[in-house]
Amino acid sequence: MRFAGQPILISGAGRGLGEGIARHLAGEGAVVGVADINQASAHAVVDAIRANGGQAHAYGGDLGNRAEYFGVAEAFRYDAGPLRAVINNASVLVYEPIEAVTEETLDRMLSAGLKSVFWGVQAFLAFRDESATGNILNYSSPVAYRGRPNTGAYTTIKAGIAGLTKVLAGELGPRGIRVNAIAPGSVPTPATEGFVTAEQYEQRAKTIPLRRNGTPEDVAKAAAFLLSDEAAFINGAMLAVDGGIIAAG
Ligand SMILES: NC(=O)c1ccc[n+]([C@@H]2O[C@H](COP(=O)([O-])OP(=O)(O)OC[C@H]3O[C@@H](n4cnc5c(N)ncnc54)[C@H](O)[C@@H]3O)[C@@H](O)[C@H]2O)c1
Repeated sequence: MRFAGQPILISGAGRGLGEGIARHLAGEGAVVGVADINQASAHAVVDAIRANGGQAHAYGGDLGNRAEYFGVAEAFRYDAGPLRAVINNASVLVYEPIEAVTEETLDRMLSAGLKSVFWGVQAFLAFRDESATGNILNYSSPVAYRGRPNTGAYTTIKAGIAGLTKVLAGELGPRGIRVNAIAPGSVPTPATEGFVTAEQYEQRAKTIPLRRNGTPEDVAKAAAFLLSDEAAFINGAMLAVDGGIIAAG
């Protein structure tokens, strides 16, 4: 129960890896704020956590919108107390050739995937528990290191998050806030429905040094480590949880 009673807000926690870390942290005693643009999915995750004896609160909102993010964070502070950590996980994934990228898609992806990180950090600073060490955990990706075709918008966002993580480690470290990133891959979630088939995931596994795809629980365990006191001197790191993709995949 490393996170007993700690309020931790998670963006995009209505499914996929966000749901995975929400369930995991609740299992270790955290009071999780499950925030998602899809309010119904946020409630479903909270219902499942409570059914397992965990503590969680659901919030619907477009977290790319600063006012909505602050509304969610303020409500969570009211429901659970001053925040101990924020996890910036929300994302919209679209793979397409560079000439197909429209202004609408680019705005939606930047808003969900990058602006929400800025608002998450600002809201955390506004509503955090200043008497305790703070934690910000950002979800980047192996694509931040590699030029994978047809991922222009997504890679730009994930590389931006990698850069911002380092900036904030320096900017917020002196205030007792650790800022780290995680680079998961390749983990089948609803995000890739329509872009990556089950067969393609199987083929992908053959190129990964550990010869399998990841699971939400693989990622959640590593994320929980970075948030825990076991990582007390880790700041500004990008932890690959990818079976070796970045190194040799
Ligand atoms: N799955 C992988 O293999 C993988 C690999 C590398 C990085 N990641 C990163 O991990 C994170 C989670 O990925 P996933 O596969 O679970 O994605 P996902 O698409 O399954 O989940 C993203 C969640 O964010 C929510 N969301 C989207 N826009 C939002 C907004 N404006 N406001 C609030 N919520 C919003 C969605 O409703 C969804 O529940 C993402 O940041 C992704 O880039 C995942």
